[in-house]
Amino acid sequence: MKLAVVGGGSTYTPELIDGFARLRDTLPVEELVLVDPALDRLELVGGLARRIFAKQGHPGRITTTDDLDAGVAGADAVLLQLRVGGQAARNEDETWPLECGCVGQETTGAGGLAKALRTVPVVLDIAERVRRANPDAWIIDFTNPVGIVTRALLQAGHKAVGLCNVAIGFQRKFATMLGVAPTDVHLDHVGLNHLTWETHVRLGGPEGENVLPKLLAEHGDAIAGDLRLPSGVLDRLGVVPSYYLRYFYAHDEVVRELGTKPSRAAEVAAMERELLTMYGDPALDEKPALLGRRGGAYYSEAAVDLAASLLGGGGSPYQVVNTHNRGTLPFLPDDAVIEVQAAVGRSGAAPLPVAPVDPLFAGLMANVTAYEDLALEAALRGGRERVFRALLAHPLVGQYALADGLTDRLIAHNREHLAWA
Ligand code: G6P
Ligand code: MN
Repeated sequence: MKLAVVGGGSTYTPELIDGFARLRDTLPVEELVLVDPALDRLELVGGLARRIFAKQGHPGRITTTDDLDAGVAGADAVLLQLRVGGQAARNEDETWPLECGCVGQETTGAGGLAKALRTVPVVLDIAERVRRANPDAWIIDFTNPVGIVTRALLQAGHKAVGLCNVAIGFQRKFATMLGVAPTDVHLDHVGLNHLTWETHVRLGGPEGENVLPKLLAEHGDAIAGDLRLPSGVLDRLGVVPSYYLRYFYAHDEVVRELGTKPSRAAEVAAMERELLTMYGDPALDEKPALLGRRGGAYYSEAAVDLAASLLGGGGSPYQVVNTHNRGTLPFLPDDAVIEVQAAVGRSGAAPLPVAPVDPLFAGLMANVTAYEDLALEAALRGGRERVFRALLAHPLVGQYALADGLTDRLIAHNREHLAWA
């Protein structure tokens, strides 16, 4: 089995390698190619990756290249984890929306739109080249914004599934709180990427007992504390929102906070410098603890599980992924991309049925789905007015003067990445 990781020079890669090494019985990787245009990073990351495999006695071969077509040739699955413009572009996404009193975030709101506009054309080009190299290859997309990018891939007919670590993070946390194994926790996880709610927490599987009320009664304060929301809010919602919902439920508070501290991009850039220095140390042969301060906890487990199922090995039968709605949430179009539990196998992901969704959540999902639709239009076809329409449709923007101000800033800060601007 051959896998390729596009964006393989990312400082996140050792997380993935560690997962491949530990879980090699689930996913027997024979060859792993790290593809990245940044050869200096690739050398550091590739070196550590090989040492992690060697230490854990993994027989797989790890190679590195900046040649995408050569790297993906013959791959059974291609993992996308790239970041167009790097942390510098992310820093912009997190900064200029604040000038308009809007949240600055890399996937939510105007910053997320900027990231989508930069990313969709690049990912579609890569996917086309993957398809040319091997029409049967699966594309696993972690590249944000995952919902919009996955929708672009599926709309262009690619064999793609989108992945995020929010659900697996909750699964692990709840398992610890309940004193059970993570595989015993089945979440009814409903929504769009970075706009999800855990509506039921079941023991044993999709039909298992719902222990969410018990979990909220016994651990509600801790869960709310992690999400930085008052615990009363969780009781009133009756479900657990992902931490991305704080950008909606506490928008003004978040904007005030973001205005007083360095951006997450600046924090991450500093961490990356430190990590890359560590990766260059030939004595280091495991993922360093510092990597745990990045947001991607458990994403290697989720990726291994998903790749194993798609490639016919032994992944979990149900996994939370991003895929076409196809009637699962009846209030959304069939071609919307939703993030829900799905049965995953060689033919892809088929969402499990979802219990009727409270209008309190369905309304926001529908609104953001419309935004994502317009965002994809803007990413594919360009033009100031399409950017404006996407922003005007976004529930955190909504007013024309605000949308105009954000549109001007988005274009000014991203000209070098937008072919049409
Ligand atoms: C979580 C999200 C990812 C996001 C990451 C950011 O893992 O699910 O979509 O990319 O956080 O983490 P960072 O360390 O870059 O802030
Ligand atoms: Mn994510």
